[in-house]
Amino acid sequence: MPKIEIAKGDITRETVDAIVNAANETLLGGGGVDGAIHRAAGPRLLEACRALPEVRPGVRCPTGEARLTPGFELSARWIIHTVGPRYRGRPDDARLLASAFRSSLALFERELVAVHGARSIALPAVSCGVYGYPLDEAARIAMDVLYERAWNVETVRFVLFNDETWRAFERAFSAAGAGDAPGTAPRGT
Ligand code: APR
Repeated sequence: MPKIEIAKGDITRETVDAIVNAANETLLGGGGVDGAIHRAAGPRLLEACRALPEVRPGVRCPTGEARLTPGFELSARWIIHTVGPRYRGRPDDARLLASAFRSSLALFERELVAVHGARSIALPAVSCGVYGYPLDEAARIAMDVLYERAWNVETVRFVLFNDETWRAFERAFSAAGAGDAPGTAPRGT
């Protein structure tokens, strides 16, 4: 039953076991949080990403999936790279964004909690920057995934880079019945 925290800050400075990167399908870096994480983790991160197999030409992580690398020079021991959808106003957008959050948590649970006893994970507002996802809808999707089952994770931190994003996630967190143990239906449903 995770403890959920909504924090404002720079995810590269988080002292959690794993941070989630909002990457693109190449996994070869970019701007936004992807660029910040690559700068903070150092050049070995790009080498590790290049070594991940392509599932099709130019694609190492399809949208909605997640891949794992070490954190290298970050204080976080691991990085979970996920790819959210570029917002186009289609029904598939919500499905893919939920899948990105779900794949990240599932990979953390399966590979890091079960095997290494990892306890804490930090996630950014995936798809809410360059990919243009509306903040309130993205935040609600993130909370829906957190509440869809009792994740075997001790602490989940959403780390938001600016006030507007932080407020959107705070609103979604409160609306999702913050006091209830995740894995139970939020109040009012
Ligand atoms: N810490 C936490 N959050 C951050 C940081 C940081 N250091 N830097 C940026 N963010 C926030 C943005 O403000 C936004 O709210 O991360 C959220 C996601 O924005 P992007 O990083 O632009 O990611 P996304 O919208 O998913 O677009 C992905 O952008 O950087 C490229 O390679 C990436 O092509 C991919 C695309």
